[in-house]
Amino acid sequence: MTDSEAPPSASPTPPHEWGGGLRPHTYNSLGVSDNDRPTSGSPDELRRRFQILERVAIFFTLPDNTLHALARRLAPASAARGSVIVHQGDPGDTMFIVESGRCEVYVEESPGHTITIALMGPDDFFGEMALISEETRTASVRALEDCRLLTLDRKTLYETIPAESDALIELTKLVEQRKDTLPNLIARARMVAPEQAASTVAIYSPKGGSGRTTIAVNLAASLAKRFPGEVLLVDLALPYNHAALISYLTPTGCLAAASQVPPQNFEEAVLGAILHHPGGMMLLPGVLRAEQADLITVDLVNRAMGILVNAFRYIVFDLGVAFTDIVISVLDHSQRVLVLVTPELSSLKDVGELLNIFTNVLNIVPGRVILALNNKVPKSVVSKEDVVRTLKQELAVEIDFDGTKPDEAAVKGEILVLTDPKSAIARGVEVLAQMIAGTTGAGEAKEKKGFKLGRR
Ligand SMILES: Nc1ncnc2c1ncn2[C@@H]1O[C@H](COP(=O)(O)OP(=O)(O)OP(=O)(O)O)[C@@H](O)[C@H]1O
Ligand SMILES: [Mg+2]
Repeated sequence: MTDSEAPPSASPTPPHEWGGGLRPHTYNSLGVSDNDRPTSGSPDELRRRFQILERVAIFFTLPDNTLHALARRLAPASAARGSVIVHQGDPGDTMFIVESGRCEVYVEESPGHTITIALMGPDDFFGEMALISEETRTASVRALEDCRLLTLDRKTLYETIPAESDALIELTKLVEQRKDTLPNLIARARMVAPEQAASTVAIYSPKGGSGRTTIAVNLAASLAKRFPGEVLLVDLALPYNHAALISYLTPTGCLAAASQVPPQNFEEAVLGAILHHPGGMMLLPGVLRAEQADLITVDLVNRAMGILVNAFRYIVFDLGVAFTDIVISVLDHSQRVLVLVTPELSSLKDVGELLNIFTNVLNIVPGRVILALNNKVPKSVVSKEDVVRTLKQELAVEIDFDGTKPDEAAVKGEILVLTDPKSAIARGVEVLAQMIAGTTGAGEAKEKKGFKLGRR
């Protein structure tokens, strides 16, 4: 990753003109920085920088004396909200450490279409590849808020750390490691490129009763208003089967039963188990009875998906809470993952951990995650702002409390997006449906997408 123009080499230095609104701090003749921070040379400032460097993962292995030397040579900079700090494709020789504020790392997949692959906050760093390689920047970075940054360029690094030192070897290893994961992230990011519009959407929440089934049914019905007969809801909220119940459909077959038929009848069994809702949505129940849940395996879902992706434009998954192989596989392979958070502290904490797992273990980049706040209780102590601040990710939509409407609709066999478009659920889901269908216009040719379940 690279910035567009040469960054300051060491601090304090005369300010450089940086593109995209990135401003190095300016210092007056007394050496006082423009934002009243201690000067870069002051003991307080150096101590503060040393503490920051200690927390920056890439420097964990560096000895204290090297960190002190680096702390002295970091150059402060600031980036205004919205400015682009690093441009994909540009050459670069500087890494950035976020002191305060938030940034997003994104790749441009095709002109005008970008996808966020990481979100950065205090103590995170980016552009580190430029320290050891002359390759052009692999992604762009934009400030989501006004940011204070510390910068370190290649020349300064090599002047500070002896070329043959273990520290540099270790640093190179860490950078290489991070570099290795990038193509994987970018490949995953491509899954939502416009030419492969999001056709698989998994709905998940680490907490039971968050509204997954309600929103899955309404989302599928909303998409089916646009594309009748082309939207399938797959109910994998095992071991129970609520999607059919609340859409007032009586299942006669299920995916689990299809596992019992000879291979030549498999396709017929899967397609034969699909129910048609008068509103246009189709539904494939996972099981008819809880005890059939054991029959659902990653391999079975994989085989079924091989057939279904060619038959439907959109496939929405309702999932259970447990982080089973099947749930992980569906999350991993769905083009979009809609994560529901409810306004409770426990939900915030659990979703925070989940998003970390997505990024660090499953390589589900933030650009694939759609975060929605579902106010399933009338009054809550947790606000939208609390959620955004805690999870460091923007909310796609906040769904207001809808009173007894969702339950009444379920009892009557109605789907709110079809029967009560003004309800909170219908309004919230409509925003989600637009977001998901937005990349595929109604007039576009139907695409055939590959869907392969199973850990890669
Ligand atoms: N925005 C809302 N306003 C009011 N009630 C809601 C809202 N969202 C969901 N509910 C209610 O919350 C309850 C749980 O919803 P739902 O069954 O969809 O959640 P779930 O995550 O699928 O739960 P489970 O863990 O049982 O699968 C239901 O009674 C539903 O009607
Ligand atoms: Mg459910």
